[in-house]
Amino acid sequence: MTEFAFTLLGQDGAARRGRITTAHGTAQTPAFMAVGTAGTVKAMTADQVRATGSEIVLGNTYHLMLRPGADRVAALGGLHRMMDWPGIILTDSGGFQVMSLAKLRKLDEIGVTFRSHIDGSAHHLTPESSTAIQHKLDATITMAFDECTPFPATPDEAAASMRLSMRWAARSRAAFTPRPGYAQFGIVQGGIYPDLRAESAAALTALGFEGYAIGGLAVGEGQPAMFETLDATTPLLPATSPRYLMGVGTPDDLLGAIERGVDMFDCVMPTRAGRTGRAYTARGVFNLRNARFGDDATPLDPACTCTLCTRHSAAYLHHLFRCEEMLGPMLLTGHNLTYYQALMHGARTAIEQHRFAAYAAAARDGWRQTHD
Ligand code: GUN
Ligand code: ZN
Repeated sequence: MTEFAFTLLGQDGAARRGRITTAHGTAQTPAFMAVGTAGTVKAMTADQVRATGSEIVLGNTYHLMLRPGADRVAALGGLHRMMDWPGIILTDSGGFQVMSLAKLRKLDEIGVTFRSHIDGSAHHLTPESSTAIQHKLDATITMAFDECTPFPATPDEAAASMRLSMRWAARSRAAFTPRPGYAQFGIVQGGIYPDLRAESAAALTALGFEGYAIGGLAVGEGQPAMFETLDATTPLLPATSPRYLMGVGTPDDLLGAIERGVDMFDCVMPTRAGRTGRAYTARGVFNLRNARFGDDATPLDPACTCTLCTRHSAAYLHHLFRCEEMLGPMLLTGHNLTYYQALMHGARTAIEQHRFAAYAAAARDGWRQTHD
């Protein structure tokens, strides 16, 4: 039986090059995880997701408990079997999605009660039930149940919210059934306040999780405050465990966070943008619906290895989006994920070769070339 492990393979300043070993295979870090909220990375088959270089897919407790239901996923052989993704799956614990999506939310010491955004039905989530659902889904990496502190929050509000999340983290840990090759991550909260982040990091490390996430960021504080918070937080987390920055971000956010010692990321940005015609490339972000692509016979990104860039012109993609053809979102989601994964691959190689700062500077120069 494979044990869950994080192996540090190299370091360049605070930037880390590592490998995660699990019951469902390995992942190289820094890693970008493709978001597969409802048991699918939207517009992509599992094989296509793998072909982008993704080694971890993210699933959501909130969406899957409502539809098709955790017991039904379990009866279908778990999330891996159901979605034909034999690789690593990380599931978020649900609290964050309840607060952003559900109706009539009520939060207390026990957990959250809410009404489904789909049919209005009443539900309850607690640290115990969230952990039990993630077990039924067969998540490789289970997340502790937390509250994402809204921004802005006063120091008192952020402290109360963080301390509730820490009590929930202890209950999540107690509800977690260890299995070889599986893991549970705690989530650091504390808003933009370094002393609260320190208190949270200490509370979680005392519980001994297999990995540590940093939550409550990219919620409106802006990149400088996010980076300052990371500067105050990552040095307090165990060097021997993976660190995961939740819900982040732009390519520039990713490089800045890697520079500050983060190993894992997830974000809807590349997949959501892919469905609306926005392309992430080495030369910046483009909207493919823009008329200037109508006669562009060149590839979207000549440096890219994806199906879109190796087989089609930018003009064809423009045409697909203008006609609202399904192939447009499919091809562009594949491209955007491939771009994010290539950026991570480049970061990993640069860290190994102790030239991460130069790599990040060159990438940022490239993005400055064009915008619209
Ligand atoms: N996704 C983005 N931010 C957060 C957070 O703070 N907590 C959880 N559980 N998920 C998130
Ligand atoms: Zn491409």
